[in-house]
Amino acid sequence: MQIGFFDSGIGGITVLHQALKFLPNEDYIFYADTAHVPYGEKPKEQVKQYIFDSVDFIVNEGVKAVVIACNTATSVAVEDLRKKYRLPIIGIEPAVKPAVEITEGRSKRVLVLATRLTLNETKFQNLVHRIDDRDIVDTLPLPGLVEFAEKFEFRKEAVASYLTQQLASFDLKQYGTIVLGCTHFPYFKDSLKEVFPGHIDIIDGGVGTAKNLKRILEERNSVNEGTGQVTYYKSGCKVEDEDTLLKYRRLLRRLTNIES
Ligand code: DGL
Repeated sequence: MQIGFFDSGIGGITVLHQALKFLPNEDYIFYADTAHVPYGEKPKEQVKQYIFDSVDFIVNEGVKAVVIACNTATSVAVEDLRKKYRLPIIGIEPAVKPAVEITEGRSKRVLVLATRLTLNETKFQNLVHRIDDRDIVDTLPLPGLVEFAEKFEFRKEAVASYLTQQLASFDLKQYGTIVLGCTHFPYFKDSLKEVFPGHIDIIDGGVGTAKNLKRILEERNSVNEGTGQVTYYKSGCKVEDEDTLLKYRRLLRRLTNIES
């Protein structure tokens, strides 16, 4: 059986990229709710409805697990989704804990970049409250990066000026670690590295989520059931046009290149 991946847009491909490394012998459905992206700037109840409609569609396609490859969707709906469905629902959340741990003893701060909706949710605020006992965590919503990503614009001058503008009120040399708390953001790792002075650690929850998925499937003796094939959907429609499929494949390649 296939594994379902869900995001509001192309952000979830950054998590799928990690899953393909840890679980290459699986078949995947990748579902982007592009009719409703961005989620991060919309009211919570509306977003919840979009998520339930999308996950219903994915589950009806026949999957053995669903990965909510979207921090925003996880923060507003993961608990309710787990109540509704019996199959494993794996979420992603901003990697605040590892960020605070690796920044320990370096007298540096942590900056969490995410959507407004994620940052405003109680789930995120409780997470920071539990972990940030030295008060070193700051946050910044960057909705513009979601827009750039959906237009497949990653290295444009406009991206660099947007980042510079959004970060203008921050003393950048104070930061040792950035948390990418939105799955659309790993595409911009190279641009982010250029904006921050000196060495900066950039982490996201993609690897942890992929490992979690693998562990859950292994516990269920449900691994190695495919060939690494990915079927893409956009808000309920199968993506068949070669141009879009090519763009998705290029995204996977871009992610491999940024890492190396
Ligand atoms: N990719 C999503 C996340 O991880 C949300 C982007 C959006 O739709 O605003 O939060």
